[in-house]
Amino acid sequence: MSDKAKLQEILARIDAANAAYHERDAPEITDAEYDAMRREAEAILAAHPEWRDMAGALAEVGARPASGFKKVRHRTPMLSLENVFDAEEFREFWQGKKRFLGQDGTWEFVAEPKIDGLSISLTYEGRHLVRAATRGDGTEGEDVTANILTLDVPRMLPKDAPGFIEIRGEVYMTKADFMALNSSQERQFANPRNAAAGSLRQLDAAITARRKLSLFAYAQGETSVPVAETHWDYLATLRRWGFEVNPLSKLLAEDGAETFQEDIGTQRAALPYDIDGVVYKVNDLRLQSRLGFVGRAPRWACAWKFPAEKASTVLEDIEIQVGRTGALTPRARLKPVNVGGVLVTYATLHNEDEIARKNVRIGDVVELQRAGDVIPQILGVLKSGGGEAYKFPAHCPVCGSLAVRADDDVVRRCTGGLSCPAQMVERLIHFCSRGAFDIEGMGEKTVREFYEAGWLHTPADIFALPAHEAEIAEREGWGPVSAAKLSAAIAARREIGLERFIYALGIRRIGENNAKLLARHYGSYTPWKTGMEAAVVIGSDSRLELGSISGIGPAIASDLAAFFAEAHNLQTLVALEREVHVLDAVSAAVVDSPFAGKVMVFTGTLSMARPEAKARAEALGAKVTESVSKKTDFVVAGEDAGSKAKKAAELGVRMLTEQEFREMAGF
Ligand code: IVH
Repeated sequence: MSDKAKLQEILARIDAANAAYHERDAPEITDAEYDAMRREAEAILAAHPEWRDMAGALAEVGARPASGFKKVRHRTPMLSLENVFDAEEFREFWQGKKRFLGQDGTWEFVAEPKIDGLSISLTYEGRHLVRAATRGDGTEGEDVTANILTLDVPRMLPKDAPGFIEIRGEVYMTKADFMALNSSQERQFANPRNAAAGSLRQLDAAITARRKLSLFAYAQGETSVPVAETHWDYLATLRRWGFEVNPLSKLLAEDGAETFQEDIGTQRAALPYDIDGVVYKVNDLRLQSRLGFVGRAPRWACAWKFPAEKASTVLEDIEIQVGRTGALTPRARLKPVNVGGVLVTYATLHNEDEIARKNVRIGDVVELQRAGDVIPQILGVLKSGGGEAYKFPAHCPVCGSLAVRADDDVVRRCTGGLSCPAQMVERLIHFCSRGAFDIEGMGEKTVREFYEAGWLHTPADIFALPAHEAEIAEREGWGPVSAAKLSAAIAARREIGLERFIYALGIRRIGENNAKLLARHYGSYTPWKTGMEAAVVIGSDSRLELGSISGIGPAIASDLAAFFAEAHNLQTLVALEREVHVLDAVSAAVVDSPFAGKVMVFTGTLSMARPEAKARAEALGAKVTESVSKKTDFVVAGEDAGSKAKKAAELGVRMLTEQEFREMAGF
């Protein structure tokens, strides 16, 4: 066999292995076999650099992470941070948080450089390091204890440490170690972050040991005994226990942030590791716990990212993508260009008006920017290529249906509905995705594959896939192991919480947050569905109820009504009812709470701000509404409570003072 044919064969095998791993999380070869294949391909390429263009399979960013790690469920989720990009956004972020608590005055912050690595959680029991886990999806990570033991982290904590404590931090690779690794023949990585991730997630810990990794500790998870009253003291404690804490971390008054940001910005290039901004955290840990979380991010910290990196390149084409709700979204295909260390080939063009406003045409030289992990954006045209003005398509590029724009909408939408394959596939992908049914192995590529095979028409068909297991096993890139694993993953999702179920339907504007609001309000599947069906009628009680849910409002109510007005959507629901069991919304954690499932109204002046009171009640399973009615279970009346308290008294609704509320809620 010629070298070229051999290379082609190896590359095809690497491609298949990548797909098995990434698309189905079901690798069919060991890491060692995989590494051997890569080495063989690299050896051929070293002799024939002119063939490197063929080697797309090798260009995959980072290592194929090792499989075979035990999954670990985090006791408290590992979160991400909200980003701000300038002083104004920074001020607004904190003003919002102060409103949440009803405070003014200034807060103390701890500022820490934001390392570009991967976060890790270290659990100490009886003061011994017993487990290290990656962040994973925030809820569940991978057990990388053996790998972490190759780093310089304390194996044992001193006597004053709690019996149980989880310490969190960032594993990173220095720029120098990254360059040394990349210039050795071992492996090429796109940036230090990927190198750190790829090196940590090695089944063979000896490989991790060879690649030099470091760790900065910066946060706490659960602890059996509080360690400090402020974050600053917590960091000092970590240092004393032998952890490395970033030496540039600083205790600051609120107005010191801007100067600190500039300082760190000037030092950035000279630092031995990559950073992409600064994290600002509220120093007072009691304040932190009152601030709590929203979605996946804490209210007590934000990341102030460095300004976006800019570059220019040629706009090669404008492609139109069709989304789950039929939205036609243009994206720019670019001549690949390096923007601050990342190779960019696509950028968003937002919508039709944006293209016209910027007057971008195919062939133009455009300026683009990339900030953090946000999708790159086109800023404008630097040099015209002399092409014609872009005409946005009036038909769906996938199914050919007319694409229309409602008067008040910037988005043009395909009118094909579920007869449009693009919309159907996107809906199926969404249905299987993480926040929805979270079916392991049913990633985008697999959904497309089975859709094309003719097995998937509606979401309920997913549950019939195990019946095709033998055929799936025969397909290229599959095998009996992956096929069986997929069947098991599907079977495991026949029970699902109401909020995930609602989110999974992919109704316009019903993201995870709104799905949660609906689930909390209606409690279980049947009342929700009945309520939605009745809400189709404008002006009905059900429609008014829906529109009055705090956070929903009339516009979203009308999107829901539109979904329920379509017969095929109702058919989808009926078909799903046969396959899955939808669990009630009240979670086990709040079942014991006196407020679980209760309708509450706050009125008058309370010592805590209204948003905090509301968040606390909701965390205990209550629904908080604005007005008092027969359905109200509790009215918490602060000082100077007026008409609502009066109405509650008339209706015989139970009234609580703030103190009583606090006692019942347990804080
Ligand atoms: S605190 C609940 N502190 O940034 C807050 N994160 O964008 C969780 N990161 O997932 C993290 N340096 O991987 C914190 N000093 C620092 C950090 C830091 C880097 C990473 C971390 C996190 C991500 C969020």
